[in-house]
Amino acid sequence: MWSPNQMLVLALVAASSFTSVHVLEFCQSTDRDCHSDDNHDNMASNSQPSLHTVKSRWNVSVSNLIKDLEQLKVSSKKLIEAFPIDEVNGNFARSVKNCIFSKSIPTPLRGPLRLAAASKDVIEGILDLDVALTHTNDFLHFASGDKLLSGSVPLAHRYGGHQFGYWAGQLGDGRAHSLGQYTNRKGEVWELQLKGSGKTPYSRSGDGRAVIRSSVREFLCSEAMHFLGIPTSRAASLIVSDEPVIRDTFYNGNVKTEKGAVVLRLAKSWFRIGSLEILSRSGEIDLLRKLLNFVIDEHFSSINSDDPDTYLVFYSTVVNETANLIAQWMSVGFAHGVCNTDNFSLLSITIDYGPFGFMEAYDPGFVPNTSDDEGRYSVGAQANVGLFNLEKLLNALSPVLSKHQQNQAQSILKGYTNINQMRIHQHFKAKLGLLGEEEDDGYLIAFLLKMMEDTQSDFTMTFRQLSEVSAQQLHNRKFPQMWALEDLSSHKLFSDWLSMFLLRLSRQLNDSDLQRQHRMKNVNPRYVLRNWMAESAISKVEMKDFSEMELLHHILSHPYVTQETAEELGYAARPPLWAKRLKVSCSS
Ligand SMILES: *[C@@H]1O[C@H](CO)[C@@H](O)[C@H](O)[C@H]1NC(C)=O
Ligand SMILES: *[C@@H]1O[C@H](CO)[C@@H](O)[C@H](O)[C@H]1NC(C)=O
Ligand SMILES: *[C@@H]1O[C@H](CO)[C@@H](O)[C@H](O)[C@H]1NC(C)=O
Ligand SMILES: *[C@@H]1O[C@H](CO)[C@@H](O)[C@H](O)[C@H]1NC(C)=O
Ligand SMILES: *[C@@H]1O[C@H](CO)[C@@H](O)[C@H](O)[C@H]1NC(C)=O
Repeated sequence: MWSPNQMLVLALVAASSFTSVHVLEFCQSTDRDCHSDDNHDNMASNSQPSLHTVKSRWNVSVSNLIKDLEQLKVSSKKLIEAFPIDEVNGNFARSVKNCIFSKSIPTPLRGPLRLAAASKDVIEGILDLDVALTHTNDFLHFASGDKLLSGSVPLAHRYGGHQFGYWAGQLGDGRAHSLGQYTNRKGEVWELQLKGSGKTPYSRSGDGRAVIRSSVREFLCSEAMHFLGIPTSRAASLIVSDEPVIRDTFYNGNVKTEKGAVVLRLAKSWFRIGSLEILSRSGEIDLLRKLLNFVIDEHFSSINSDDPDTYLVFYSTVVNETANLIAQWMSVGFAHGVCNTDNFSLLSITIDYGPFGFMEAYDPGFVPNTSDDEGRYSVGAQANVGLFNLEKLLNALSPVLSKHQQNQAQSILKGYTNINQMRIHQHFKAKLGLLGEEEDDGYLIAFLLKMMEDTQSDFTMTFRQLSEVSAQQLHNRKFPQMWALEDLSSHKLFSDWLSMFLLRLSRQLNDSDLQRQHRMKNVNPRYVLRNWMAESAISKVEMKDFSEMELLHHILSHPYVTQETAEELGYAARPPLWAKRLKVSCSS
């Protein structure tokens, strides 16, 4: 029989493959297998980032912020000294062997530079820089690749990867430059990267540039994901220019001239599954071991490197965290869009924002990349794609694992689906405000998702409005102005579901309806980066008007809080009609 978790996942992955009547037969409440005894309430609410800013009542720490870029001490030393460096110089495409990085000087963005956006949270909270500094010429030149800080030796990373299911050989940073690491006042180490900063040895046929469109999307989405509480790379600034960049937006031969942009982005580490894969594939096993040891020492402090099972423990951690990350994506309806192994971080953070999307009308088959006809990377397929990618990681690790360890790793991998399903179950329970664990919980959630699919209810707003509505209003079926709930309630089984939900809530003895609403509002965002919002901001940025982008950035920094300006702009309203006609441009 179905476990509640499996049932839920079925509801998440199966696009309209069963009828609502069948759904009711999935799980009998007497079925023992329907019971699951994990008990992690409110897990999602704990993962909210603290909105820490470096301000104090006495302005003490504010005055400690760096006011001169020369004082930003970035260092590439560790990365350079840990590994052999490509012996060839020059930014021409080539096959590279026996190294992790190539030295590569950025090609500065040409034309009049403008700061289109800066994230105060990153600039002050991570880089310890006074945000006023972002308005200086120094900063413009630094963040567009024209000025190197002392200590910075720009590097392009060599990696490989499986793209769309097949080994693609050498890929690597084709338009990104690592500027080195910064250790901030909290003792955190962050690696700075420019994206869109020109050719590297890994550019293949690319021009090393990024266009405004994709850069605005990366900037906004990485910051939005952070404030949703989802592990992600961060974005510090976006510099735009008039430098022409030619793109074939829909791969149909209709080339278009767009404008170049550079994002300054940060992560604790940019190593990917593909970073290990290429070493394993080309038989560079000593280097594979070296990179693994480095990643474990630097980023997996809980793993004891003297343990003979170090690599196995590392693998187990990555499996666990990847299962967690994908469950978090699912909980907000986020589809990454290009889940190739080179776009999957070893630290299980969201990286490489390309043709991503947030699902609007609930549909497990939602695919953000309009050219991905097979739906390989649809929102509902992501859990399985994670499994595929972790299998590739295991293959990459095999040369440094004993036969026995390889077998153990196989069984760890077998546990992935369970972890992922359990996490998804916990997230959706929290999204519905459920406390404790009852055997019908999986059924309650799957039932709701099926109704949402049938009625094409908006994913974000259905859960949000369920958080905002009182039990009394639900009982009376009064949802004034709650458009998503109105859509949902058109389902012929809505009353059945509603009674079940209300009964479930009424059994939460220690709970009050206000507490339930409060909990739910903290895990169900009111604002996500919908394509139409991004599109509108992009078209203004292209005309050098950065106000809408700034506003959107600000609003998405508080996605769980109702905001007047956001309401005025219709960010929680039914999407405008023109949004339906939008195709996500894959132009990058
Ligand atoms: C802190 O410093 C900022 C900028 O220097 C200033 O605008 C603000 O008024 C100061 N706040 C206090 C409480 O002194
Ligand atoms: C798996 O991840 C969860 C959530 O981050 C954590 O609580 C748990 O300890 C992890 N388990 C292992 C074996 O790493
Ligand atoms: C993701 O991976 C593909 C290749 O697999 C690469 O071309 C692309 O630049 C990466 N990032 C994004 C955002 O697509
Ligand atoms: C979108 O999907 C198509 C078909 O699988 C693929 O060729 C293309 O590279 C994808 N776009 C991006 C940006 O990854
Ligand atoms: C209700 O609260 C009491 C005291 O805070 C606690 O002992 C009890 O376990 C709670 N019951 C439930 C069902 O959460």
